Amino acid sequence: MTRVGSRPWWRDAVTYEVYVPSFRRARPPDPDRPFVPFGAVNAGRLAGHVAGDLEGIRSRLEYLEWLGVDAVWLTPFYPSPLADFGYDVSDYCDVNPAFGTLADYDALVDEAHRRGIRILVDWVPNHSSDRHPWFVESRSSRASDRRDWYVWRDGDPDRPPNNWRATFVDAPAWTWDERTGAWYLHLFLPEQPDLNWANPEVEAAMTDVLRFWLDRGTDGFRIDVVHGIGKDPALPDAPAETAAVPWSAQNDHESTHAILRRLRRVLDSYPGDRYMVGEVFLLSTAKVARYYGHDDELHLAFNFPPLFAPWDAEKWRERIDRVEEELGPRGAWPTWVLSNHDVKRHHTRYGSEARARAAAVLLLTLRGAPYLYMGEELGLEDAVVPPNAVVDPGGRDGCRAPIPWAPGPGHGWEGADRVPTWLPWPPDPDARSVEVQRSDPGSMLQLYRRLLALRRTSPALRAGSWEPLPAPPGVLSYRRSLDDDSRVVIVNYTTSSHSIPLEEPLSVQVSSTGRGEGTRFSGRLDPDEAVVLG
Ligand code: GLC
Repeated sequence: MTRVGSRPWWRDAVTYEVYVPSFRRARPPDPDRPFVPFGAVNAGRLAGHVAGDLEGIRSRLEYLEWLGVDAVWLTPFYPSPLADFGYDVSDYCDVNPAFGTLADYDALVDEAHRRGIRILVDWVPNHSSDRHPWFVESRSSRASDRRDWYVWRDGDPDRPPNNWRATFVDAPAWTWDERTGAWYLHLFLPEQPDLNWANPEVEAAMTDVLRFWLDRGTDGFRIDVVHGIGKDPALPDAPAETAAVPWSAQNDHESTHAILRRLRRVLDSYPGDRYMVGEVFLLSTAKVARYYGHDDELHLAFNFPPLFAPWDAEKWRERIDRVEEELGPRGAWPTWVLSNHDVKRHHTRYGSEARARAAAVLLLTLRGAPYLYMGEELGLEDAVVPPNAVVDPGGRDGCRAPIPWAPGPGHGWEGADRVPTWLPWPPDPDARSVEVQRSDPGSMLQLYRRLLALRRTSPALRAGSWEPLPAPPGVLSYRRSLDDDSRVVIVNYTTSSHSIPLEEPLSVQVSSTGRGEGTRFSGRLDPDEAVVLG
């Protein structure tokens, strides 16, 4: 891919999120190193089940290179009791034996780099596991040197220090700890105590963690719940109107920004444009924009209002306008996400493959950096998870179903022909498998590949301006342009056909239906069809 000017690589990159337990297993399941989430709903049933490993990811880098993505974000693979499937870290500088070893990680990075793919690690700074030695020490005694590494408050065991609610469980964000007779804060599960970033020792220790991974050649970080790390020392109640909303979706304290400026300097001191993309789970683009600072905080931030927008042209236009208005003046580069490991897949949300295909055209042609979630390129829908197979208290099992690599038993996963995978397969695993779709020119997978290839050759799509074009209701049309490269995108969000008069003769470069590619655009769009013209 040719660089546009002096832009850092991550501005133009398409990143592919690998949910590590569900991508692929390459090694035979090892009974001594099982993947058994601690405390998960129905956890007991998982003993002996098959989950992914780092070697499985390395063994499929060939696929990711063929698909045409630029970077891979690996969800947490650290040692962890897996109460939140790895987002509860018990050692920030190692690999969970269920997933492999540090040597496997190094081999993965080496091979990815050889193939021109960058690797992002998921860094979880807001909270650790309650089994992390830091917390074990902190909770052991009020006199512990690490007491102040977490957020403790004295008080009455019947009345939490404030009204903040936890996430994934209907409970306060505080747990009373008998041993020292005090409350500790957890914006998520009780097994995920919040670190106290107001303590400089915590910042120093966590900065060492960043260096540990940067020194191993890691290209960047996806930062978990980054807006959570700075807390108001007064711990004020949530306003009455939002008291029922988990505090993890509301915490937005000024002190986070100064921390981010210091972290930014650490990343920028490394060669090779290392970067951080933060999960800012505040459903306001104006608030998200502040986390870019003045090009001195996050390099990129996830902006989730579009992720929660329905399949509706006007609603999407409104979300895009917000992004242009809020991020534009800061020179901040937007990000776009349709699916991830925390929400229903967009094929399931939008209700049809035709829409999921049109959405792919949208995602890969908006102004900004797109993030794909593994399996969306296969058009996967959420798995139907029977009550006795549910493991996540947050109800997110469906989108985390394993990737079917091949038709037939085991779907290309080592050992899965004999013992079940930790979650059931998504619907139609044979027809949706990589192997089947790779050999079908009309497949969803091939559509993603054509879109990614087109982006690579088009400076306008990667880096150009975004300008809306007139379109009938229910249709979104825009032009991306840079110098003499110009592309027009039209997305039909409706179930009727539309005629779109164009002033210039343009040809269809990619259509979500595959119809008419390489020929002059007829001016007609099928229901739920999207096209890129040039
Ligand atoms: C983020 C992660 C989610 C996790 C939570 C707590 O939202 O994406 O999977 O459960 O943080 O770490």
